[in-house]
Amino acid sequence: MIVQTTHDHIDEILMIERSSFNRPWSMTHFTNDINRTDISYNYVYIGDNKTVLAFLFGYKIIDEYHLNNIAVNPDFRRRKIGSNMLNYLIDQMTKLCVQTIKLEVSARNEAAIHLYKSKGFYPVGIRNDYYSKGDDAILFSMEMKSNG
Ligand SMILES: CC(C)(COP(=O)(O)OP(=O)(O)OC[C@H]1O[C@@H](n2cnc3c(N)ncnc32)[C@H](O)[C@@H]1OP(=O)(O)O)[C@@H](O)C(=O)NCCC(=O)NCCS
Repeated sequence: MIVQTTHDHIDEILMIERSSFNRPWSMTHFTNDINRTDISYNYVYIGDNKTVLAFLFGYKIIDEYHLNNIAVNPDFRRRKIGSNMLNYLIDQMTKLCVQTIKLEVSARNEAAIHLYKSKGFYPVGIRNDYYSKGDDAILFSMEMKSNG
């Protein structure tokens, strides 16, 4: 089940975040994003055991959505949860008349790059040293078919 993120989910989100990234977002970062109800559209994937197994955070600005963060609990990867989250996001943003979804991903992050390409995202640019010296970001984009 995928639902909108609330403050009740933050502790579980933080556990996934910290086990997924070298420089994890802080609790304040997640809290501020959830509070930014004008632009922030965030979702969690709730497993059968009622725990948060994955999350996705991003900003919708007029007709563009920027995916800022997505992660799946390491014990539940390669079970199509990330894929389902992106399908859900695409459905939601289509309903909200979004035309483009964009995101940055480390050029070293093969898993995420495979996932994004499988959903129809394509590379549109490189941001050199975006994460740290020598760790470039690839900017990916996808146009929404029905809203284009
Ligand atoms: C990237 C991430 C979200 C993928 O989530 P997931 O639920 O494991 O992915 P899925 O099971 O939905 O995979 C869908 C497809 O993506 C690709 N993929 C996912 N993980 C992969 C991996 N480790 N290696 C290669 N391809 C991978 C495959 O094409 C896969 O399809 P397949 O399993 O039929 O081959 C997950 O690995 C993660 O949380 N990583 C850490 C956080 C992160 O890097 N987030 C992205 C920041 S930009």
